[in-house]
Amino acid sequence: MGLDKDEAIEKYILSHIDEEGDLLKRLDRDAHVNLLKPRMLSGHLQGRMLKMFCRMTQPKYILELGTFTAYATLCLAEGAADDAEIHTLEVNDEMEDFIMKYLHQTKLKDKIHLHIGDALEIITTLNCTFDLVFIDANKRHYIEYYNAIFDKVRSGGLIIADNTLWDGHVLDTPKQSDKQTIGIQAFNDMVAKDDRVEKVILPIRDGLTLIWKK
Ligand SMILES: C[S@@+](CC[C@H](N)C(=O)[O-])C[C@H]1O[C@@H](n2cnc3c(N)ncnc32)[C@H](O)[C@@H]1O
Repeated sequence: MGLDKDEAIEKYILSHIDEEGDLLKRLDRDAHVNLLKPRMLSGHLQGRMLKMFCRMTQPKYILELGTFTAYATLCLAEGAADDAEIHTLEVNDEMEDFIMKYLHQTKLKDKIHLHIGDALEIITTLNCTFDLVFIDANKRHYIEYYNAIFDKVRSGGLIIADNTLWDGHVLDTPKQSDKQTIGIQAFNDMVAKDDRVEKVILPIRDGLTLIWKK
């Protein structure tokens, strides 16, 4: 059976953009063989976009909520300057060995600070003013993350929120028990009304909202 059109377009895009490189390819393969829900990692296209955002905006202080395998962390580190500091927060301590296995294989690790614990708790301990924040942890808590980081983002800084189309479920009327869809819808509604920021939703992968703080 041939590829459907969406798959064919994705294949075409991936063969006409920068390669993800050997380390990320190996990490991706390892995640698909050994981890539950490997699709949570950003992957080739979104990873190159995150790198490009860093190239374009040159952030010095970067915060990522939800490290998982550190795929996106490494992409952010690739695009950021040598003196950038990337703080990445992950609640699942079982991911630490996987993450460190890959960080130890690259000099990019000098820019990366991994914090294991709950994002909402760790954020209160970080005394940086961030230039770029990537929100990609628990979909139920996006509004809390946004409120917790907002005053720590500089004016002119960029907040990127992942999964904001949630596989199209943002269009549904969710069951009361579907807290992830409810969380993402509430987040999108709140950002839409927030006049402290400019925002756009990119319909790539699972939806990526770019939020620029005025
Ligand atoms: C979608 S994955 C992150 C993917 C990664 N940012 C990437 O793009 O490759 C979400 C991660 O957030 C973590 N997470 C969930 N709740 C969290 C919390 N309260 N604090 C920190 N991390 C959390 C999960 O354990 C999971 O590893």
